[in-house]
Amino acid sequence: MAAAGHVRSLLALGFSVALSVLFGPVVASAQDADPVLGRQVWQSLANCRECHGWAANGQQELPQQPQGANLRETTLTPADMAEVIRCGRPATEMPYFGGNATWGPNGKCFGMTRAEAGPMMPIKADSSLSDRQISSVVAYIFASLVGKGPITREECDAFFGAGQAKCAGYATAGK
Ligand code: HEC
Repeated sequence: MAAAGHVRSLLALGFSVALSVLFGPVVASAQDADPVLGRQVWQSLANCRECHGWAANGQQELPQQPQGANLRETTLTPADMAEVIRCGRPATEMPYFGGNATWGPNGKCFGMTRAEAGPMMPIKADSSLSDRQISSVVAYIFASLVGKGPITREECDAFFGAGQAKCAGYATAGK
């Protein structure tokens, strides 16, 4: 009996793999968001920091990149933030991180097709992120950056590891 159950679960697994091959990955919901993955996306899988700064205060890490928005003071909802990351922001230098279909023939961003966006069309980011990576980086941004006020020494130590010279200039929380 155990063997039969095993076969059945293998069949079920095969079936769901076949389904996702046929229909593409099921769109990730916000519940799948993983702040640990989100931190990896923010820290190294995507280049957000180059424009937004490691602590997202809008001070870019790479001087040749455009200055990103201060996400610590964002007023976006998590859903709207996810759309900005997936679609980019038309007519600004915020690039889009969604896959090729994002602005494809059937894709719509902010209610617009690529043709409707025309010259406002955002540029494609250096990397593409899955829906799960996007909902995860949104979860990380809301958990660790939004509304946190000035950058603290503790925050810097937690991000880079204690004892880094670059953290010495930040005030300790509450001082
Ligand atoms: C090439 C530079 C660049 C990169 C890379 C970049 N951004 Fe941006 N981002 C911008 C700019 C510039 C804006 C401001 C757009 C505007 O003027 O409204 C922005 C705006 C945003 C906003 C809207 C904030 C608000 O409150 O309206 C979010 C959210 C955001 N970026 C998240 C991200 C995330 C997450 C990543 C990495 C996955 C990322 N950005 C990568 C340049 C960048």
